[in-house]
Amino acid sequence: MRIVMIGAGYVGLVSGVCFADFGHDVTCVDTDAGKIAALEAGGIPIYEPGLEDLVASNVRGGRLTFSTDVAAAVAGADAVFIAVGTPSRRGDGHADLSYVHAAARDIAKAVSGFTVVVTKSTVPVGTGDEVERIIRETNPDADVAVASNPEFLREGAAISDFKRPDRVVIGTVDERARAVMSEIYRPLSLNASPLMFTERRTAELIKYAANAFLAMKITFINEIADLCEKVGANVQEVARGIGSDNRIGSKFLNAGPGYGGSCFPKDTVALVKTAQDHDSPVRLIETTVAVNDTRKRAMARKIVAAMGGDVRGKTIAVLGLTFKPNTDDMREAPSLSIITALQDAGATVRAYDPEGMEQAKPLLEGVVFCADAYAAAEGASAVALVTEWDQFRALDLPRLKAAMRDAVMVDLRNVYPPAEVVRHGFAYASVGRNAG
Ligand code: UDX
Repeated sequence: MRIVMIGAGYVGLVSGVCFADFGHDVTCVDTDAGKIAALEAGGIPIYEPGLEDLVASNVRGGRLTFSTDVAAAVAGADAVFIAVGTPSRRGDGHADLSYVHAAARDIAKAVSGFTVVVTKSTVPVGTGDEVERIIRETNPDADVAVASNPEFLREGAAISDFKRPDRVVIGTVDERARAVMSEIYRPLSLNASPLMFTERRTAELIKYAANAFLAMKITFINEIADLCEKVGANVQEVARGIGSDNRIGSKFLNAGPGYGGSCFPKDTVALVKTAQDHDSPVRLIETTVAVNDTRKRAMARKIVAAMGGDVRGKTIAVLGLTFKPNTDDMREAPSLSIITALQDAGATVRAYDPEGMEQAKPLLEGVVFCADAYAAAEGASAVALVTEWDQFRALDLPRLKAAMRDAVMVDLRNVYPPAEVVRHGFAYASVGRNAG
């Protein structure tokens, strides 16, 4: 199959290289000539484990190419995936679809022969209808079917998520489009097929409903964690106790500083807006958004409380800045609000993150960025573990303590058994568990 990905961002690049790895002929197109030139030279613009090697081997194999020329790539393609950005529009929280619509116009002008146009970007319900309308208006002769194929990739695990998906949702009722999409995903279907065909609007809504449900699940366990602290219960055991019920499921029940990232914050707000527009409010998700927003600053208050209530003139070491491990992505990272609140309370923040510091530097004024966890702890009155990178899971606690002024650890990801940290002479606070 000849496949074109419009947009060589996170989704476009990961999906494109995985399709190429399946043996398809893939061209990733982007209007950013600098990005395309860098990709051609082997430079990967994002941090994603395994991506660089997979791109290199598929480029070498001649299955993956990069281009800025949409028209040349689209002509003769079997399927064109739209994987451009859909940022939150300033002011009203709706998704900004201008890049999607521009891609639809570019595709319409260039298609030849039957082509499936697939929206992979996360787009509000009804966007497929609009893409189809734009294509037909721009080129009434275009022989296209417009399908929705949302992605469920997690940053840091995107390649395995793509190659071993729980399901692949494809929204189209067009028989020719279904045949093309089945062929594209055939390498996944050797055993049981994960493909699920639906109507287009249903596929579009599945993506939002899935992300909103997961965000709600995290927010639920976060509120239960707060309650655990009050009643003297342990949230990890509560999570295990409820999660082993198959109807609930054990994943996404890790209490922490609140969800961040490029998807959950944006998609929950967009779903709330869509639902309001259709006069069918999703009140659980409205509440999820509000609870998650307040949680980040509440985590700063937790750190201040663990330090005796006054942090003026004190230094705090923050370990982990990205919204989760194995990414350099700082979008909506809880660390941003937490650090700002700590600075507002009068503290100096020293920070270390294994991959996210370059992205974090322009976002965090006045933070001292350090070379590793121990350097960050130098002279600090507390260490706050905000993102659970593997390298923070087995810190040399005596060494950490020796670098610090006061031995306080606030573990917002429940990485450590409380008793272990306390044994090393720390005052210890975590989320939804007693100090130990
Ligand atoms: C998410 C979805 O998982 C993915 O299917 C979708 O396509 C895009 O959005 P991603 O944002 O990469 O992926 O990360 P994910 O691993 O889902 O984590 C999101 C946020 O939730 C992170 O801030 C993470 O720390 C937090 N989280 C996750 C928790 O606080 N507790 C959990 O148990 C799980």
